[in-house]
Amino acid sequence: ATSAPFHGRHQAGVLEQPQANSAHVAFDLTIAGRHALAALMKTLTERARALTAGGPSRPLGIAGPATDSGTMGPDQPASGLQVTVGLGATVFDGRFGLAGAKPARLRTMDTFVNDRLDRAECDGDLLLTLSAPDRDTVLHALRDICRATRSSMQIRWRIDGFTPPARPTGAPRNQLGFKDGTANPDVTDPAEMDRLVWVRPGGDEPAWTGGGSYHVVRIIRMHVEFWDRVSVSEQERMFGRRKDTGAPLSGVHESDTPDYTDDPKGTAIPLDSHIRMANPRTPQTDQSRILRRSYSYDRGVDEVGNLDVGLVFGAFQQDLDRQFVAVQKRLADEPLVDYITPTGGGYFFTLPGVRDTSTPTPAPCW
Ligand code: HEM
Repeated sequence: ATSAPFHGRHQAGVLEQPQANSAHVAFDLTIAGRHALAALMKTLTERARALTAGGPSRPLGIAGPATDSGTMGPDQPASGLQVTVGLGATVFDGRFGLAGAKPARLRTMDTFVNDRLDRAECDGDLLLTLSAPDRDTVLHALRDICRATRSSMQIRWRIDGFTPPARPTGAPRNQLGFKDGTANPDVTDPAEMDRLVWVRPGGDEPAWTGGGSYHVVRIIRMHVEFWDRVSVSEQERMFGRRKDTGAPLSGVHESDTPDYTDDPKGTAIPLDSHIRMANPRTPQTDQSRILRRSYSYDRGVDEVGNLDVGLVFGAFQQDLDRQFVAVQKRLADEPLVDYITPTGGGYFFTLPGVRDTSTPTPAPCW
């Protein structure tokens, strides 16, 4: 695999399709003061740049410790790694003197109806999202970054994810068996991205936030033992799409656009179906659309022998309240809530991109 470009107006890992393997890792910072944070951002930038570029590890004196875990071999291929860095609201709480620089909507994650949150798996000062075609690439990068930043931050929670290949075509399937990621804003349309994904400076947003994006992560457990006892037609009515093709229940192909004006009573696509509540496709709700970037997770078995699988739901947006929060509130009473339980996650501000080797990471601490 080739490596994603590291330098640019925006970070890699937002617009790109989810890769086969991921890790979402939230850290607590163990430092204080603006200078220490600036030094950490510099180290993170250097490691992310080097890891995404690949190349042989730095030589060190013969008696020094190895500069690298060695798990990618001596030449360290870039292997398609993408590194995305976001900051949590707690970074702006006073430890770093940055209260005035906080992105306007950033806060610790809200608790919604039906959430059963484990606070140990929520929030954090900094979120690192790593993705790559191979799992060892993700783990190698995580070890490298942890090693380089050990005196400054400590892992708070971590969840690994995966994206299966298309079965047989179109969007990858989630663990409820439905194609997931079909209806998303058009990432090849810069005007749409400027309207829905990237924060625009001005208004109440501090200037440094321009080109960044609000990243919502929700760890959502799926109760697959219950789900697997539900008929396919009932499952399809819950989503509003066909399980086999991914087509809306009013259409034939996965790419068909559902038309709700033709179906005001919900005869074809139920009014309380997931896709209809999430995106009613009215002029008023258009501005609440989100860019979903989710992964599946599988972390074994719980204490009573049920599978612990689900979705690492990810969404990027320009405005947390106008978009994710509005959509999440619309979904509060959807029938799907009986089969899923949000257990963790957080709100993070994905920093704007690193322009080049001479300009520092856009961050509030310089
Ligand atoms: C669409 C599954 C949680 C927002 C879909 C689709 C599926 C799906 C199968 C239809 C295919 C597609 O367009 O991608 C799930 C599952 C969830 C989950 C299994 C939890 C485990 C959420 C959450 C939100 C959300 C938490 C936001 C708060 C959306 C949106 C769409 C969508 C906006 C597109 C609707 C459209 O534009 O037609 N989801 N979803 N989903 N979902 Fe979810």
